[in-house]
Amino acid sequence: MRLGSICATLSLAMGLSTAPALAQSASELMGSADPAKGERAFRQCKACHTVESGGPNRVGPNLYGIVGGSVAAVDGFKYSPALSEFGGEWSVERLDAFLEDPRKAVPGTRMGFRGISDPADRADMIAYLNSNSDAPMTFEGGGESSASTEPAEEDFGALVPGEGVDVVYYSCTACHSEMIVVQQGKTRHDWDKMLDWMVEEQGMSEPSADDRTVILDYLEAHYNTDRPNFPKN
Ligand code: HEC
Ligand code: HEC
Repeated sequence: MRLGSICATLSLAMGLSTAPALAQSASELMGSADPAKGERAFRQCKACHTVESGGPNRVGPNLYGIVGGSVAAVDGFKYSPALSEFGGEWSVERLDAFLEDPRKAVPGTRMGFRGISDPADRADMIAYLNSNSDAPMTFEGGGESSASTEPAEEDFGALVPGEGVDVVYYSCTACHSEMIVVQQGKTRHDWDKMLDWMVEEQGMSEPSADDRTVILDYLEAHYNTDRPNFPKN
């Protein structure tokens, strides 16, 4: 059972009653959300989730068809009592609140993710999740599609700009702030060992060989032992 049309109508109504500049929720922004941007940001979820049809459960459940789908209903995944009791369907509004601050939306959830604070980033993420479905919802309104304009400058927090910063940001901020990364200065070899430690001891999914190279190139160039970008107060 999908609640697509109801939610989209609701979202549209909300969007019209609120000034976009004051948007606090992703549901107001679904009409202009960019799934391609959501796909890039999904790297931070990949540490724990797959999204393709029939993909395996990892630390978290497979997310195919999650938008409008039932809460805590993926076969073979052991959910927390908190999420099971939350019940019902993942409407855009509920998903929005969960992705903003999982532990606030569902106290007791086991999803150890710090959340996405920007409503536009959440809208992009929900649009990407929605595209991974047998029955995607349609979202109307919202005016200009951001996909047709220049991509907005993305925010990579304390990480210095450079080739691969997006991969590092999305791969490493799934579980902790990027501050923990920028406060280090290491050789490539030691960064490589640090990555192994994230994978073997901290539950990070093994990055693809390409991503590992991109991550190590970036960290070696910008966060080497001379700490060229060590944050100063
Ligand atoms: C550190 C691991 C981790 C990260 C990172 C993470 N999740 Fe989760 N996620 C989980 C776990 C574990 C659960 C199950 C929670 C529970 O049972 O309380 C979950 C549950 C969910 C659910 C509910 C699934 C269902 O079947 O009802 C959604 C939706 C979700 N995650 C989306 C995301 C998205 C989108 C991201 C990235 C922005 C993300 N998660 C990042 C671990 C993670
Ligand atoms: C699946 C979760 C997860 C992911 C993804 C992850 N880490 Fe970590 N990381 C941890 C945990 C847990 C700790 C230890 C607890 C803490 O200090 O927050 C940690 C600690 C660290 C530390 C501090 C180590 C120390 O000596 O104090 C660094 C540096 C670090 N991570 C780098 C990275 C980098 C770089 C990436 C991305 C390539 C990354 N992490 C991705 C879970 C993760």
